[in-house]
Amino acid sequence: MTTALAHPQTPFYQSSSPRTALRTRLIPQMRAVDRADVEDAEDAMLGQFIPIHYHYQMLDQQARIGGFEQAINYAVKPGMKVVELGAGTGVLSFFAARAGAAKVYSVERLPHVAKAARRFIAANGFGDRVEIVNGDAATYLPPEPVDVVVCEMLHAGMLREKQLTVIASFKERYLARFGGPLPRFIPEAAIMALQPLMTDYQFHGYQAPVPMFVDVNNAHRTTNLSMPALYAMFTYGDDYATRFAIDQDFAMERTGTLNSLRIITKNLLALVCEENRSIDWDMQDLIIPLATPLAVETGDVVRMRFSYNAGDSMLAIAEAIDKDE
Ligand SMILES: C[S@@+](CC[C@H](N)C(=O)[O-])C[C@H]1O[C@@H](n2cnc3c(N)ncnc32)[C@H](O)[C@@H]1O
Repeated sequence: MTTALAHPQTPFYQSSSPRTALRTRLIPQMRAVDRADVEDAEDAMLGQFIPIHYHYQMLDQQARIGGFEQAINYAVKPGMKVVELGAGTGVLSFFAARAGAAKVYSVERLPHVAKAARRFIAANGFGDRVEIVNGDAATYLPPEPVDVVVCEMLHAGMLREKQLTVIASFKERYLARFGGPLPRFIPEAAIMALQPLMTDYQFHGYQAPVPMFVDVNNAHRTTNLSMPALYAMFTYGDDYATRFAIDQDFAMERTGTLNSLRIITKNLLALVCEENRSIDWDMQDLIIPLATPLAVETGDVVRMRFSYNAGDSMLAIAEAIDKDE
């Protein structure tokens, strides 16, 4: 038996087991952090604009770079015009130029990153075809229509970074300036899912339930308690929602302690329709601890309901999951 809630936005989880009807409260550790400080210092800067000393980790992520390289090689044909929103070091613009793009307009917000990208692009021999623009992707439009838009402002669960709002705004302004059709987007689509977990948060005897990022298919510290459930699926070329909602029953397949949730994010970088496949990038899973662990038994049904906005901070989603009215 599950209980319907009066308030559609009330985020909660509760077990339908006859033993428990449990609702949780905010994670105490999260409360200790001043949300406004976090948003100012982190989301306004790190969550969105990424200084040069963080780019090595991104350049070295094989699944990410290799996926984008394949997708760009597949979608960008010789002579095409390309825009990149969020150039960083310029690596994806380099892939586009190397695939034969006649012109790549590549926009980076941070001046020192744009300067580095300009230097790297020139050193890699494409200074004549890749134009690094130091500007805001949220307002930028190229001087001419383009065939492909590459944008990697992605974060697990579409949190923190502004991919969805930046692309939605780009589409609107592009159509107003140039009319249709819209360019092809890389990534083309995304799928997100949620899975209840039991996670081991003990570090040398110290219990610290903190958010974690783990590679896909790496069972490190986690035990799945139920199958994942899809909560969002969209294509960038179509209209999409920037608010995600989940309201889902999960049947427990194991007895254990439900103390965390896995957010799964699959980016479909290019749909290779003629071969019935896609070029994907499975991002690291985000594992969010729950404030009050819930003892569950095989066969219990746990209902979860919460919602959040694309670009919200991770704390916002932790609050959304755990908040009890
Ligand atoms: C996740 S990084 C990806 C960088 C590069 N495209 C790559 O794949 O390595 C996103 C980049 O977008 C930049 N960025 C974020 N928001 C932006 C905005 N509104 N306008 C321009 N650049 C932005 C960040 O500073 C960062 O360099």
